[in-house]
Amino acid sequence: MNQKTIQSILTEERTFPPSDSFAARARIKSLDEYQKLRAAAEKDHTGFWADLARNELDWHTPFNTILDDSKAPHFQWFTDGKLNVSYNCIDRHLESRGDKTAIIFEGENGDTRHISFRELHGEVCTFANALKANGIGKGDRVVFYMPMVPEAVVAMQACARIGAIHSIVFGGFSAESLKDRIEDANAKAIITADGGTRGGKVIELKAACDAALDKGCASIEKVFVLKRAGNNVPMKQGRDIWWSDAVDGMSQDCEPEWVESEHPLFLLYTSGSTGKPKGIQHSSAGYLLGATMTMQWVFDINEDDIFWCTADVGWVTGHSYVAYGPLSNGATILMYEGAPTVPDAGRFWKICQDHKVTIFYTAPTAIRALMRFGDDVPNHYDLSSLRLLGTVGEPINPEAWMWYHKTIGKEQCPIVDTWWQTETGSIMIAPVPGAVDTKPGSCTLPLPGIAADIVNENGDSIDDPQQGGYLVIRKPWPFMLRTIWGDEQRYYDTYWARFKGKYYLAGDSARKDKDGYFWIMGRIDDVLNVAGHRLGTMEIESALVSHERIAEAAVVGRPDDIKGEAICAYVVARGERPLGDDADALVQELRAWVAKEIGPIAKPDSIVFAETLPKTRSGKIMRRLLRAIAKGEEITQDISTLESTDIVKQLQGKA
Ligand code: WTA
Repeated sequence: MNQKTIQSILTEERTFPPSDSFAARARIKSLDEYQKLRAAAEKDHTGFWADLARNELDWHTPFNTILDDSKAPHFQWFTDGKLNVSYNCIDRHLESRGDKTAIIFEGENGDTRHISFRELHGEVCTFANALKANGIGKGDRVVFYMPMVPEAVVAMQACARIGAIHSIVFGGFSAESLKDRIEDANAKAIITADGGTRGGKVIELKAACDAALDKGCASIEKVFVLKRAGNNVPMKQGRDIWWSDAVDGMSQDCEPEWVESEHPLFLLYTSGSTGKPKGIQHSSAGYLLGATMTMQWVFDINEDDIFWCTADVGWVTGHSYVAYGPLSNGATILMYEGAPTVPDAGRFWKICQDHKVTIFYTAPTAIRALMRFGDDVPNHYDLSSLRLLGTVGEPINPEAWMWYHKTIGKEQCPIVDTWWQTETGSIMIAPVPGAVDTKPGSCTLPLPGIAADIVNENGDSIDDPQQGGYLVIRKPWPFMLRTIWGDEQRYYDTYWARFKGKYYLAGDSARKDKDGYFWIMGRIDDVLNVAGHRLGTMEIESALVSHERIAEAAVVGRPDDIKGEAICAYVVARGERPLGDDADALVQELRAWVAKEIGPIAKPDSIVFAETLPKTRSGKIMRRLLRAIAKGEEITQDISTLESTDIVKQLQGKA
């Protein structure tokens, strides 16, 4: 984004206030209440967070120092206090909630388990003791390569209990990626499973670990293997140990390791726009405070809720809203191991019905994918237990938002569109559902104590509702990342250098409307420059998807001599992929549609139909790949995670 700021072309005027009945029983019941919280935080930023930390977390040693900024931008919170995250998630509930269900699990094959807080405590302690017996202790890094089963949460909590630092690698990553992450973290142990089940297939997790270990990973001493899929796996003597053998005979009690607030709870690798993945490092106390408070503010969590976040534990969402935030609040979570379309596209809705899920949190990409199957699928199930819906991971286009609102929420459930990042630790901008009116496509207002703003090149706030800019956070917050593991310089360069250490750069572009609502426009790198106008790709995508025949769209730029950049759209139609004359006619119609919806400047120069879009395992569109395709370049990047390479041919217009 040089010289000019981004122009916004999207107009969305609908607003949806919370229903009286929702507001009446919500934790925060009115805009006024929410504004008071925000005002209190603005008046005394550190005092606000300190009060919450004292009241909402259980401390072994109380803290006196709230914020130490002497090493900024390495901000440290509650530094002289000590606590244990697993104690806060489990032990402190045992007296009042020992028999309450902590985890409801459903496997892809339909097997279910209920685990109470007391049982969870026992499982966490025995596994923590097993880790210790195998030489793992405070500060050691433990890499996970696990299916989405309760033992993943057990193992996370067990690491937290003994002060070991977990680093979860999503089970869909290749052996090569696993190896890179193990080596970067210099990990001492791996926790994996024989296999996981997804889409009816067994994912060979142990085999991938073996392949990674064959290529290097000299630091690994132990590999813990959970039996899950029942497939045959070789075990290496002295190195590999079955989970069941490891816990055999271990005590059900394990005194928590009381760690300093700043002790790293976990690393989580996230890909940058270029180069090797960054090991995002989070703290113990500050991180837990964010996960705890946002469960209350954004998800309005209550004693009788059944909370289902569909994210895998391999992503940050699976950390904050599966393993830590809900349990810290003593809430019941649901975990599902498999794919959303097994045996059919009604699986998510059937699970909501069968387990009486009250809060459902998923990604826009999943909503759009399920929306393609039509209303009959969800209408077949009783979704009346739902009271609140959420989204995360990318901007949700108003079309999908409305479908979620009407077909899933039956117009009764507020939708919380939550903006945050691996780096921010927890939700930062989202509606507080009993207090803030929602608008389809906007993540609405920053949470109390979060100093989000939009600034121009010079770092000045932008107030013009039509102008986009850099999304920044002006003040440190307790659950922010602490650094990039082993790469201080990159930490500074990526997040702080742009505004000389003054504020945190999120890397997203956004605008604020006349009501102060935030609208995320995409990553800064995704901005197009068409004939001198800077356009966010998200708005063009949103316009395309609002056409009745379009299910999904991705827009990228291709260098163009005349216009600077030409707009290339890759779209997935509802139903069959259009071909021949039908495709030609639809291209014309879509170009006219976009011109009408947002103006001729945004009219795509080319539109290509494919059966699916290329996505990363976390559902983000692989824009770098699309840019290469748009330019007609040879494909050199790793596309092994794509379900079918035929898609690339379709995108290239060769099939
Ligand atoms: C994008 C996921 C629009 C954004 C928790 C951000 C969103 C990146 C939203 C972080 C949202 C996430 N609206 N965009 N509600 N939520 N994003 O690290 O570009 O996997 O910077 O964390 O996802 O992705 P990450």
